[in-house]
Amino acid sequence: MTTLSTDSAKPLCALSDLTDGTIGSALLDDGRRIAIYHVDGDVYATDDRCTHGNASLGDEGSLDGCIVECGLHLGAFDVRTGHAVSAPCSKPLQTYPVEIRDGKVWLSAHALAEEAP
Ligand code: FES
Repeated sequence: MTTLSTDSAKPLCALSDLTDGTIGSALLDDGRRIAIYHVDGDVYATDDRCTHGNASLGDEGSLDGCIVECGLHLGAFDVRTGHAVSAPCSKPLQTYPVEIRDGKVWLSAHALAEEAP
């Protein structure tokens, strides 16, 4: 797992720090922790906290293709959409659009614009 602090002017992480098939995490300016997934060359991001309980997907989750399984009760989500795909999870995860530029993973400008007051 890779954990990095970041702000809107910094990348979430270097793509090379996130081996294909693994989960990283990053802290946003507002203290939110997001999980970052590298799946077959694509990168996705969601809230780090499982919607079922107090578990970190970045720390305790496992990734199988585009499905992240929570380590606490084995519920699962599709990281592309945030949809819960396995009980006991039923509430979707918040997703964040990300982009890869210059070998680094960034929250997309679209995501930042949506968060601006
Ligand atoms: S806390 Fe994640 S499945 Fe229960």
